[in-house]
Amino acid sequence: MTAAGTGRGQGKVLLCGEHAVVYGHPAIALAVDRGTDVGLTRHDGPTTVQSPHTDPRVSDAVLRVLPPEGMRVEVSTDLPVGRGMGSSAALAVALVRAKAALAGEHLDLDAVYEAAMPIERAFHGNPSGVDVAVSARGGCLWFERGRDGAVRQPLEIGDVQLVVLDSGHAGDTAALVAGVAAGRPGNDAALAAIGDLVHQARSALHDPDALGAILSENHARLREIGVSTPQLDDLVQLACSAGACGAKLSGAGGGGIVLAVTREPDAVLRAAEGAGVSAFGCVPWHA
Ligand code: MEV
Repeated sequence: MTAAGTGRGQGKVLLCGEHAVVYGHPAIALAVDRGTDVGLTRHDGPTTVQSPHTDPRVSDAVLRVLPPEGMRVEVSTDLPVGRGMGSSAALAVALVRAKAALAGEHLDLDAVYEAAMPIERAFHGNPSGVDVAVSARGGCLWFERGRDGAVRQPLEIGDVQLVVLDSGHAGDTAALVAGVAAGRPGNDAALAAIGDLVHQARSALHDPDALGAILSENHARLREIGVSTPQLDDLVQLACSAGACGAKLSGAGGGGIVLAVTREPDAVLRAAEGAGVSAFGCVPWHA
């Protein structure tokens, strides 16, 4: 059956600034060439959801947006789900866009952001909004959660080559964010140091060596606030030993992925394969 409304949300990686962004520090997020598609068709009977996401919150999210009767929802994705690549934000953005397409409406980026955020909240409690913003817009984005609304500023980035190393299990974003909150004010110095690194990264977006070094430093600060794991530390080490310019956990941590900036993706991918680690290369995605 041909979908009557379709929508797409891009996946993302956080280059720098996760967790600190929740407390008003900036973050830099980058949309990548993977994402989620939603197709909607009308049918008789209860709304059904066919999805590779096994998380029951997916049906809750869908029913926040769609009526309980009359729709068939098909979700497809090439993002690893629940690994910090913004799969829930990509789903939210794709769903909002598919619904608008079905109604023959055009939504601008702000409208997509506003409509997708309640869905993202159903997954993650108190998200900063960075994942939704970059999923909707694509490209590289400076993001700050201000008192009077979020600052979302596009940034230029060079042809950076990335390798994603998958820990094989999901981190619980809401629990990790709550853990960092419980560790304040002790965590505040590390969170501020992450904010400083994000400012430095902004000037290094065309220099993989400088950017990589900042990522590795950011990882060290994320360890300090307790969101890394021995496995993620090992994956950072594995990527750097294979010649990556630098690496860090990306997303909430506790599992999820490690992101490496590299001039030699094949070398990092070979090292990952040799260690039995699932990994793939990706590049920035621009609208
Ligand atoms: C999750 O991708 C990033 C966090 O900073 C949470 C958020 O910004 O909502 C950990």
